[in-house]
Amino acid sequence: MVKIGDIELPDFPLLLAPMEDVSDPPFRALCKEQGADVVYTEFVSSEGLIRNAAKSVMKLDIYEKERPVGIQIFGANMESMLQTIDIVEKSNPDIIDINFGCPVKKVVSKGAGAGILKDICLMEQLTAEMVKRTNLPVTVKTRLGWDHDSIKIVEVAERLQDVGCKAISIHGRTRAQMYKGDADWKPIAEVKNNPRMHIPVFGNGDIDTPEKAMLMRDSYGLDGAMIGRASIGNPWFFKQVKHFFETGEHLGPISLAERVDAARRHLQMAIDWKGETLGVFETRRHYTNYFRGIPHFKKYRMKMVTSDDSKDVFAAFDEVLDVFSDYQFV
Ligand SMILES: Cc1cc2nc3c(=O)[nH]c(=O)nc-3n(C[C@H](O)[C@H](O)[C@H](O)COP(=O)(O)O)c2cc1C
Repeated sequence: MVKIGDIELPDFPLLLAPMEDVSDPPFRALCKEQGADVVYTEFVSSEGLIRNAAKSVMKLDIYEKERPVGIQIFGANMESMLQTIDIVEKSNPDIIDINFGCPVKKVVSKGAGAGILKDICLMEQLTAEMVKRTNLPVTVKTRLGWDHDSIKIVEVAERLQDVGCKAISIHGRTRAQMYKGDADWKPIAEVKNNPRMHIPVFGNGDIDTPEKAMLMRDSYGLDGAMIGRASIGNPWFFKQVKHFFETGEHLGPISLAERVDAARRHLQMAIDWKGETLGVFETRRHYTNYFRGIPHFKKYRMKMVTSDDSKDVFAAFDEVLDVFSDYQFV
């Protein structure tokens, strides 16, 4: 069994990665239903929360059905990060995760996200103080290092563990790589193989097939897999991986009915959460992924992404179910 603090998880848990504009409550709920063992919110700015910026505050919304859920925060200022803990706790998450991995310039230039990989002492201090501030388990998500010449992830992980971090998720790229090249899981395995490590070490980066998840488990010996892009438009990925683990076989294709059902429910949950206008608008970006591969789909996609009234979008889903009932997904 894998534990994050007192939270008990199955062997080799699958975690939904924090993803900006993707890992919102409706998407997290769908992934949870399809087998994600832990879900994380997209990153939330500590400075935004302190200023009570509506956009940041809304990202703290979590629902019972998604537990265990971690709220991920980013920032570099100690006082702001500590105040943020107090704010985040009011949302009652199961985990607070610190983002020490975001490579985006506007984040790293302020020393936040992966920017902190240039100052390991501050990374350690921030983690230590945040752990002291809350009774919730604090986890960290980070990258291998700032660049290829400064990879010290084995030491970094140990130092974070020693100040009370309860689990670490490591994306197998450096900040300098951004998303280029292949993720390298070897340094993550070195972290896990450090005999002093006792907290869970989760691997992240490029898991897009059940086989790769199995490789991470069996050949790299990691404690679990954090999955990001492979789940976008495919919340079933978690179930596909679990099925493969259990049977050694691939789950059959996801049917049109399941896809339409997911799209419908995604839209409904978004409306329930953000209201009709924003719900309709923000769910648009998911439809292409849900219905990818269907030929001559443009007419229906256009209806889904241009209608302002949810009734028209729901009607487009019904039409798709009717028109493409014979289409076989691979
Ligand atoms: C659209 C998008 C948004 C992301 N936003 C975040 C974020 O808010 N916080 C974070 O720690 N990582 C973020 N990431 C990085 C992912 O969590 C993950 O580390 C990365 O995509 C590699 O994993 P994957 O190959 O499974 O996608 C984001 C990635 C994508 C594609």
